[in-house]
Amino acid sequence: MSEYDWDPKTYLALMAEEVPDYHRLQDQLVVAASVHTSAKLILDLGIGSGLSAARVLDALPQATLVGIDNSHAMLAAAASSLPLRRFTPIEQRLEDPLPSGPYDLVISMLAIHHLDGPGKADLFSRIAGALRPGGRFVLADLVIPENPADMMTPIDGVEDKPSSLSDQLTWLTAAGLQPSVSWQHRDLAVINSTRPDQSTAHVKWPAAVKSQELPHS
Ligand SMILES: C[S@@+](CC[C@H](N)C(=O)[O-])C[C@H]1O[C@@H](n2cnc3c(N)ncnc32)[C@H](O)[C@@H]1O
Repeated sequence: MSEYDWDPKTYLALMAEEVPDYHRLQDQLVVAASVHTSAKLILDLGIGSGLSAARVLDALPQATLVGIDNSHAMLAAAASSLPLRRFTPIEQRLEDPLPSGPYDLVISMLAIHHLDGPGKADLFSRIAGALRPGGRFVLADLVIPENPADMMTPIDGVEDKPSSLSDQLTWLTAAGLQPSVSWQHRDLAVINSTRPDQSTAHVKWPAAVKSQELPHS
């Protein structure tokens, strides 16, 4: 994605042009987030205008959501469209300390690829610290695909710093999370990570697996 001032009015048109599978990725984010049926408090990192958060809140009607973003315009659009009693907007950077939790669920779609490798690794460890034991982190984002021909999204190399799946799985594991890939299509992927709770901390989990692509719902 090229650099621009994020504008909620043109955002979907931009996604249609630069991330044609935006809605498929969002579907898979919602599928992965919905598994956490008892989630009460959610944190959305880079919530933008709230389009993905709205779908997650619809799927988890008992939950409230804190959304952070450093774009005032995008956050204002989220605040005007999401239900007031279920949404707390916070204008801040992903690099800043996360608003205090603990969270049952942390979600992020198409935002964390704006951080470089060390920035992602640092954020993953702060996410692990903000999650309740047993909580889950669902990351739906751009990745560097194994086959360069699968890179569909224009990357400017300045604002956009996607990493490979394997690097991100390594950083998530180093952060103390248990990650697995629930969906991948070309340069898009969804990674589910769980913070082990004490009762399962001793269990040796299998290495992260790449599941088959799920049918588009
Ligand atoms: C492609 S939009 C994704 C919005 C939303 N998550 C969605 O699913 O439609 C990326 C968002 O990440 C935000 N963002 C990018 N880098 C950020 C940073 N370092 N700190 C906070 N927000 C950031 C942008 O302002 C923008 O709203």
